Amino acid sequence: MSQQTLVLIKPDAVARGLVGEVLSRLERKGLTIEAMRLRTMDGELADAHYADHVEKPFYPPLKEFMTSGPLVSLIVSGDEAIAIVRLLAGATDGRKAAPGTIRGDLSSSNRENLIHASDSEDSAKREIGLWFPDRG
Ligand code: TYD
Repeated sequence: MSQQTLVLIKPDAVARGLVGEVLSRLERKGLTIEAMRLRTMDGELADAHYADHVEKPFYPPLKEFMTSGPLVSLIVSGDEAIAIVRLLAGATDGRKAAPGTIRGDLSSSNRENLIHASDSEDSAKREIGLWFPDRG
């Protein structure tokens, strides 16, 4: 089933010059970039995007990191796109993510892990609405 998912290429990836690498992995898999924008997340958007995490102990440093510089927001589409982008991203903690995945190959951090990808159809819909209000 064709799906849309919200992807963020996080500030660490932009700072490290890995935007092209991440985009290339998505494109080579056969996914389609429907929308793309460079922007810096503000605190209000961070709180909305991470609504499930705002009370967690790791949230303050996560918010600091995610608002620290520009990131690239994308709508990515394709057959089973939500699960496929999660597979390409790998496990949350880059120190534990499998080699071959974006995080496993390129991140050694549990926080600065290069990519966000929606984890369900409901979160994809919600997150696309937050990041691309004209496309939700
Ligand atoms: P989560 O939704 O659990 O992971 P994922 O991004 O793989 O869907 O967590 C959101 C982000 O929060 C995660 O990408 C990095 C950060 N995070 C931490 O900084 N510390 C932690 O212990 C966890 C679980 C997540």
